[in-house]
Amino acid sequence: MKRKISIIGSTGSIGTQALEVIEKLQDKFEIIALAGGHNKELLAKQAEKFKPKYTCLGEEGLEKICSDKENDIILVACSGKIGLKPTFTAIRNGIDIALANKETLVMAGDIVMAEAKKYGVQIIPVDSEHCAIHQCIKDINQVEKLIITASGGPFLKKSIEDMKNATVEQALAHPRWNMGKKITVDSATLMNKGLEIIEAHHLFGFDYDKIDVVIHPQSIVHSAIEYKDGSVIAQIGLPSMHIPIQYAITYPERFEGIKSKSFSFSEIARLDFEKPDFEKFPTLKLAYDMGKLGGTATVCLNAANEEAVFAFLDGKIKLYDIYKITKKMCDEHKVIQNPTIDEIFAVDKEVRQLTKCLVGQHQ
Ligand SMILES: NC(=O)c1ccc[n+]([C@@H]2O[C@H](COP(=O)([O-])OP(=O)(O)OC[C@H]3O[C@@H](n4cnc5c(N)ncnc54)[C@H](OP(=O)(O)O)[C@@H]3O)[C@@H](O)[C@H]2O)c1
Repeated sequence: MKRKISIIGSTGSIGTQALEVIEKLQDKFEIIALAGGHNKELLAKQAEKFKPKYTCLGEEGLEKICSDKENDIILVACSGKIGLKPTFTAIRNGIDIALANKETLVMAGDIVMAEAKKYGVQIIPVDSEHCAIHQCIKDINQVEKLIITASGGPFLKKSIEDMKNATVEQALAHPRWNMGKKITVDSATLMNKGLEIIEAHHLFGFDYDKIDVVIHPQSIVHSAIEYKDGSVIAQIGLPSMHIPIQYAITYPERFEGIKSKSFSFSEIARLDFEKPDFEKFPTLKLAYDMGKLGGTATVCLNAANEEAVFAFLDGKIKLYDIYKITKKMCDEHKVIQNPTIDEIFAVDKEVRQLTKCLVGQHQ
């Protein structure tokens, strides 16, 4: 039987790679719906090729797709806060989720995971680090801690001064991964890793002091877990998002699909690891702090960062201002514990408005 799938964000980096995977596994999938944001032309080409039941452009149609119980699984691969509502709807309709959109869990991880449990829905991570951990864990009760790797982004070997004067082009020149603009800037500031520790906290239920980050520039070790007896299990492979995407949408089965060339330890030759520099990448500490505060602290972190990243991409602020603005917003935020979904959206809206004002003052 074919697995029926819809893709939210089919025109993006994850979405297009997911379609490459599906093309290789045509006998395993039937596409129910494809949704993009603005790229009408690409969506039309995808529709012609993959013949989904329907397509949608923009946010309006996402609820319809995610309420369609014909879906076995929905790949949520849009970027930013747009992912939360459709994920929520899909869960309440009992549809499994392959989750690329980390902002969903950063904004509402407690509620989303509780709803998933209530409706018996599986949330399979697409993010390569969380996918790696998902693959390593056999018995979660015996795991002592999670070790999340980070490539370090384009500024790993640059000075703080270089970072302060970085252009948009330099921030978008990621050495390992070809991704959408928002996540690429987040990777340059290490906020992406910050969002990932919050994502890991919700997905796997670990306290923040049991989630370590280690810099690993080669991006071969995608993440690891340490068992209570000190044994460490890591998932390794060549850096390609095809593999975690395929894992998530075919789980628990594995197929050859779009497999890259066979892995060779001797060709890799060396793997480097180092501690993250919290002074140079203060966003990482901010994310840990906001994660530990919980409640709407991470909603604020996510909204302020996202608006500041957009402002940086628009040439309105400098790279380091992203941190300064996000930190100020977080410092001033009055955290609501155990927020409802409406409170989450209200905080998100308010923080975005305030962040835009703060951006104006930085110009
Ligand atoms: N790229 C990666 O390697 C990677 C790895 C791990 C996790 N992730 C996560 O996956 C998510 C997607 O990342 P990405 O790099 O694929 O981003 P991206 O290339 O920017 O793609 C974003 C997708 O969302 C769509 N979209 C934007 N606005 C929308 C709207 N209002 N309604 C519906 N769809 C909308 C875009 O459509 P248009 O292009 O048509 O506007 C596009 O299809 C992010 O949360 C990111 O953190 C990405």
